[in-house]
Amino acid sequence: MALLVWNESLTIDIQSMDFQHKHWIRLINELHEAMLQGKGSQVIDQTLDNALGYARLHFAAEERLLSESGYPTYEQHKKLHGHFVDKILRLKNRLNEGHTVLAMELITEMRAWLTQHIQQVDRQYAPFLKQKGVA
Ligand SMILES: [Fe+2]
Repeated sequence: MALLVWNESLTIDIQSMDFQHKHWIRLINELHEAMLQGKGSQVIDQTLDNALGYARLHFAAEERLLSESGYPTYEQHKKLHGHFVDKILRLKNRLNEGHTVLAMELITEMRAWLTQHIQQVDRQYAPFLKQKGVA
């Protein structure tokens, strides 16, 4: 079963961002699946890189959108993205050192952060972007 299932509470109603959030969730589910199936560390590492790599692409796109539209709390928003990447990289390093028990911790962390971030932080910029003509 998927770790995180897309539902209406995750929609912010900015099409490009909803699309990217959905894809990111798919990659997190793939990572979860690889862990459940007990895939080797190489596969886990690759799948984790996919999820983290896409998160960074998505953050860059979102930050561009916010900065170009003059979103007032853009800097704070960008900082939150940075903290997330740092945290995941720290966990990833420990995982690479052989702390296998961390695999689940890492993915639980990703899921919790993403859900909370979309629902409480990303959602706040939607009305502002719409006002600026972003669909
Ligand atoms: Fe965000």
